[in-house]
Amino acid sequence: MLAQVNDISLAFNDQGTGLPLVFLHAFPLNRTMWSEQEKGLSAQFRVITIDLRGHGESDAPLWHYSLDQAADDVRSLLDHLAIRDAIVVGLSMGGYIAFAFYRKYVERIRALVLADTRAQADTEDGRRARFDMAQLAYRQGSGAIADVMLPKLLSSTTIQTRPELVQQVRTMIEGNQVSGIAGDLMAMAARPDSTPLLERIRCPTQIIVGELDVPTPPVDARLMSEKIPNARLAVIPKAGHLSNLEQPELFNETIRSFGLTLTT
Ligand code: MLT
Repeated sequence: MLAQVNDISLAFNDQGTGLPLVFLHAFPLNRTMWSEQEKGLSAQFRVITIDLRGHGESDAPLWHYSLDQAADDVRSLLDHLAIRDAIVVGLSMGGYIAFAFYRKYVERIRALVLADTRAQADTEDGRRARFDMAQLAYRQGSGAIADVMLPKLLSSTTIQTRPELVQQVRTMIEGNQVSGIAGDLMAMAARPDSTPLLERIRCPTQIIVGELDVPTPPVDARLMSEKIPNARLAVIPKAGHLSNLEQPELFNETIRSFGLTLTT
């Protein structure tokens, strides 16, 4: 489905009924990364997955991107769907957007799921690497970005033993336009440190991390779980950064049991 929000066309899926779960994907993927969550959770929840601005079937305008703007797009989509509040599930970049959403629209959040993400801002070296990656995307296209990103996103066992999953992630990355890739990189490089926000988070929060996650390792997840009051932490065995794709059943079960605590 498509919605017109904030001068762009935003693609999304909306399946099931019940407490809404809004899924925000990682960089540089799209809403199809959540297909196992749609299948596994839409019998009990209303599952909404979004192609963030710059990704998949949503528009990827050549202009300035920011995580606040992504949060505005999510808010506008909730308005469009007449959803008052939702469990916001963000994985990696989706988690950075969830922090931005919390800062701007706390009243629209019923609960948070922060998966394979971190609260800290980029380091100087990290920002420089974003610049280099944007130049790579500009010169060589999204295939070169897939080559760099795949070993970061998936565990080495998955890369060696699950060629169909590797291809699925590659297809998502290659489907992006360079404007969206560069836009995200600028938006992530400019994001603030969310560590001071953590102890002010007042909604129920579930943190999830793949035990083999390298870009946002378990130590980052533990920092969030220690600072956010009453946060729950689940470490998913045999999963890397894309824990929802590498261990969908365990990921879904964690969200299901967390979500059910909110409905009772
Ligand atoms: C992601 O998976 O969204 C990215 O690895 C996040 C990042 O580059 O910081």
